Amino acid sequence: MKVTVVGAGAVGASCAEYIAIKDFASEVVILDIKEGYAEGKAMDLMQTASLMGFDTKITGSTNDYAKTADSHIAVITSGIPRKPGMTREELIGINAGIVKTVSSNLLQHSPNVIIIVVSNPMDTMTYLVHKTTGLPKNRIIGMGGALDSARFKYRLAEAMEAPISDIDGMVIGGHSDTGMVPLTSHATRNSIRVSEFLSEERLQQVAEDTKVGGATLTKLLGTSAWYAPGAAVSSMVQAIACDQKKMFPCSSLLEGEYGLNDICIGVPVILGKDGIEKIVDIPLSDAEKAKMQESAAGVTKTNGLLEL
Ligand code: 2OP
Repeated sequence: MKVTVVGAGAVGASCAEYIAIKDFASEVVILDIKEGYAEGKAMDLMQTASLMGFDTKITGSTNDYAKTADSHIAVITSGIPRKPGMTREELIGINAGIVKTVSSNLLQHSPNVIIIVVSNPMDTMTYLVHKTTGLPKNRIIGMGGALDSARFKYRLAEAMEAPISDIDGMVIGGHSDTGMVPLTSHATRNSIRVSEFLSEERLQQVAEDTKVGGATLTKLLGTSAWYAPGAAVSSMVQAIACDQKKMFPCSSLLEGEYGLNDICIGVPVILGKDGIEKIVDIPLSDAEKAKMQESAAGVTKTNGLLEL
């Protein structure tokens, strides 16, 4: 199982690191346009192999897509990250051109590849890959919900002073500060609804903190986060590579599900060897439906900025 990670920045490198540490892939290729950078990251990571106990081979490439040939899965992290005070949507101008070129280059050497899009604004970049490659919809997946759900569980655990392993919960909708829809009414601690432990007011605070999870970190770090995004992607890659049939909220092309069409937005999906094997259309409350519609309107507005 060969995996390519395009972009050797902090998110790409973390993603490659976690994939390697989990030791399910035979090879990870990291590619970057900056001369020698991906090779350096790959060599540094390979020198952790004997210490961390993995056999995954990590190689680096300066923009030579031939080295990515016959990849099963490719992760696109390339583009610029946001700076404090910026929204993800403001990155569209630069990142759209990059994501379009990268996906076309990947497909020239790996025609059967499954693409995971991480670059922001992620839902719109996922839509762009659909529109420009014409790949079947199961093979284009946007990372966002897996990360936002991890942040939601972190905030719920913090609020309840509970271990994170006790918590289950999902965030659907767009991967933006205003578009995320944390499903507070569905979240549980060991199958008991979190509303049994937290007041409505505290739950609302958890939801708000979750939605600005990325912005909070960007303010603290001066650039966007990388550990949790890298870990979220590595879990999605593993689910596909190992045919786990695990459920993650991912940005997927919708054709009527959740009452939405011609949009990529976060909804629960089953990830297995074919990529998105099923979109899980769960019943939402009227309030959640309204939030989902509002989120979709925001994503559609950003999609309108694409030059397709
Ligand atoms: C984040 O939320 C990078 O969009 C990503 O941290």
